[in-house]
Amino acid sequence: MEKHTNNVLAPIDLIVHSANQVLTLGGDAPKRGATQGDLGILRDGAVAIRGERIVAVGDTLDLLALADAHTRTLDARGKIVLPGFVDAHTHVVFAGDRANEFEMRLGVATPLRTWQYLDIQKAGGGIMSTVRATRAATRDDLIAQSRARLDAMLAHGTTTAEVKTGYGLETATELKMLGAIAALAAEHAIDLVPTFLGAHVVPEEFTGREEEYVDLVVDEMLPIIQNSKFRIRNLRKGILNSEFGILNCDVFCDDGAFTLAQTRRILTRAQELGFGLRVHADEFANLGAAALAAELGAASADHLMVTRRDEMQAMARANVAAVLLPGTTFGLGKTNFADGRAFIEENVPVALGSDINPGTCWCEAMSFVIALACRYAKLTPAQAIVAATLNGAYSLGIAEHVGSLAPGKIADVLIADVPDYRHLAYRFGANPIETVIKRGRVISLI
Ligand code: NIG
Ligand code: FE
Repeated sequence: MEKHTNNVLAPIDLIVHSANQVLTLGGDAPKRGATQGDLGILRDGAVAIRGERIVAVGDTLDLLALADAHTRTLDARGKIVLPGFVDAHTHVVFAGDRANEFEMRLGVATPLRTWQYLDIQKAGGGIMSTVRATRAATRDDLIAQSRARLDAMLAHGTTTAEVKTGYGLETATELKMLGAIAALAAEHAIDLVPTFLGAHVVPEEFTGREEEYVDLVVDEMLPIIQNSKFRIRNLRKGILNSEFGILNCDVFCDDGAFTLAQTRRILTRAQELGFGLRVHADEFANLGAAALAAELGAASADHLMVTRRDEMQAMARANVAAVLLPGTTFGLGKTNFADGRAFIEENVPVALGSDINPGTCWCEAMSFVIALACRYAKLTPAQAIVAATLNGAYSLGIAEHVGSLAPGKIADVLIADVPDYRHLAYRFGANPIETVIKRGRVISLI
């Protein structure tokens, strides 16, 4: 009890109590190797909240003794309590949809041909088709379309999400996307961590002039975006990510996207300008991006469906998080899932993301990502839950604020209507999350 509490003398606003299991996850350090599955389970546990923060985590009887007339209580009998999900990789801000391409990939719309994702891209569709829709959308429309997805993510227990740009691919529209992200960060309950992905693909108007597009990203976009971060933060008095204040840069390094040399150039410049680094690595082809992430000390390498053991070892040495996205492999109808067990064996901190995007994976539910990760990416339920919470936070540089249930952390707390943590992975297709508490506020879910 002692080590789980601090500053409990002032009134407590909210106590969630009597949970079958409280998954505390404890601490701020990423869990890796033998500790990847450490859930820190308390039985008949409780969480006490004041304002936006957790003030105590412990036994139900001990914590209920702190309640007074002002304290609201939530009974979690027969249920489990866990930290809000931290979705470490999303493209949730976009306009339009690509249901037509989904049909093409199934071979339904064009029975004579089953299209591959990269073939559609080469034919002018894919990411570029969402770029056209996003360029054409007004900022307000972009916000409205994305807000609906954030609402669904919140209802499924996501309380923090990384969000990438990358459907502008021209300075003005990349800035429009960042503006939309900033506006959503200010209005929406989910805390958002922005990532600039100007190097998502080479836009069609630069076909045959790929290096010129890389020049544009390096010489124009990166410096302007970096300055805009401070403009946005000052204007919004730090509301964008509030205390997080992070801006990342990501590059899609793969066949049909950017080469290793181009990726190195963009990420190196981004690092000089103070961006945190993330990289789309090894989704289709292994171009060496995971090793580059290790060399540059990136925060994460993501996708990792065709990564070698020696590259995993380099990531472990450099403390690069592996962000696995099994929803994307599933969404593409493929079977070469990232080998999560191998990353854990090599001592890489493993995180999970939804990768929600219109092309490969329109999925708002981290519980479904957990279900997939256990069946196909070879994680145990406990390892997957750590990956979807604390390790996601670690990969975003915010593990001191969110990702576990401990005094002082932001009170992002879920009640799931299941008797045992394994049910989060065992069941799928329905939403197990019954109550979402975001920054101490009980969110009403419809
Ligand atoms: O993570 N790989 C690159 N980006 C996305 C796909 C984006 C899209 O198709 O719109 C992904 O799978
Ligand atoms: Fe992605």
